[in-house]
Amino acid sequence: MPEVPNDRWMAVDRYLDDTIVGADAALEAALASSAAADLPAISVSPSQGKLLHVIAKAMGARRILELGTLGGYSAIWLARALPPGGRLVTIEADPKHADVARRNLERAGVAAVVDLRVGAALDVLPQVQAERSGPFDFVFIDADKANYPQYLDWAIRLSRPGSLIVADNVIRKGAVIEAGTSDTAVAAMRRMMAQLQSDPRVTATAIQTVGVKGYDGFAAILVT
Ligand code: SAH
Ligand code: DHB
Ligand code: MG
Repeated sequence: MPEVPNDRWMAVDRYLDDTIVGADAALEAALASSAAADLPAISVSPSQGKLLHVIAKAMGARRILELGTLGGYSAIWLARALPPGGRLVTIEADPKHADVARRNLERAGVAAVVDLRVGAALDVLPQVQAERSGPFDFVFIDADKANYPQYLDWAIRLSRPGSLIVADNVIRKGAVIEAGTSDTAVAAMRRMMAQLQSDPRVTATAIQTVGVKGYDGFAAILVT
């Protein structure tokens, strides 16, 4: 659980949204329709979504993979970073979330470049591999936390040297330092960190973040 956002963090995020991040009708409609459909309010924040967009665009990512679509908010940011001919594959286990996402992606005008796959990521990833829609240039891991170690392994396998993998929610209010944790999500995050430390295929770091989503963080993993 992220720490309850404090007023200062909230105000700074609002300031960034109102200045450099910028408002956008389709992104705002995606959040509104997600809330109206009772989806959990756990999308990346606007400044985080734009960070994903900026990174993907800077890399010239043509093939992007996302695990955990929810209402499609981060998917819209990612899809908008694609060059002509680019493609986003995004995987969502909950059919209700996927339905909301489909409408949001259509409204944002990116449905044609997004391949939204409904199913548990660990079931869909082997299909994605078999279809040879990879290698992916950029992967965003944001589905169920307990499977992050497996998702990391899949992300690396579906990548190429130079690909970047970003994983959300890796700090969890600082709980990531708790070696004896009984929280399965935190324990999985620690296993992923151990993989990152020892896997010769990657070089990685993580950044702590505060803001409207509380205290959490991202990992940035470069495939070498
Ligand atoms: N990336 C989204 C937020 C994702 S929230 C955004 O920033 O806008 C996490 C999502 O992962 C939820 O919609 C949840 O239903 C989905 N999820 C949970 N377990 C999953 C699994 N095994 N495979 C794929 N998606 C899963
Ligand atoms: C939560 C936040 C997330 O960004 C996510 O992907 C899943 C859960 C949370 O706040 O619980
Ligand atoms: Mg997340």
